[in-house]
Amino acid sequence: MKVFQQGTVGGIEVKNRVFRSATYESMADEGGRVSPAMTEMYTGLAKGEVGLIITGYVCFASTDNPSARTVSMGPDADLSALRALTDAVHGHGGRVVAQLAHVGSQLHGAPSGEVFAPSAVVDPVSGILPMSGEARVEGPIEGRRRLFMFN
Ligand SMILES: Cc1cc2nc3c(=O)[nH]c(=O)nc-3n(C[C@H](O)[C@H](O)[C@H](O)COP(=O)(O)O)c2cc1C
Repeated sequence: MKVFQQGTVGGIEVKNRVFRSATYESMADEGGRVSPAMTEMYTGLAKGEVGLIITGYVCFASTDNPSARTVSMGPDADLSALRALTDAVHGHGGRVVAQLAHVGSQLHGAPSGEVFAPSAVVDPVSGILPMSGEARVEGPIEGRRRLFMFN
């Protein structure tokens, strides 16, 4: 039985093979920051010996918003609460991986700025015509740089 044995996932050492699958909780605040309740929930998972927690989807572009109360790691995001959540999980020997998501023109609610997607094609549901992703690549790259601060 290897469930309770240490292992390595993508270069990250985990204390066991108990993983929490990516699960969007809708627990960020209105500004896309991790809420105290979300930190408490993740801390509880780590306390309960979950070795690796994969977050629900996290946006990395400032205009992206897949669902209500999604965590944002966008260029303008305040990451202090996400840092504190990560530290709390680490404090109990757990690890966290952020699942990055980008929905482009299929976003939730009205766009807060320029929307970009792989192709400049109108989404039939939202009616949004996004810019081609290549033209707006600075956002995601900055988001990815920030990702290295975590896990
Ligand atoms: C409430 C809820 C939220 C979820 N959010 C995400 C998500 O943010 N990202 C993702 O990749 N999968 C998400 N999933 C899918 C789960 O990670 C998992 O793959 C799915 O529940 C299938 O697992 P199962 O076959 O054990 O039921 C979500 C599932 C549920 C029920």
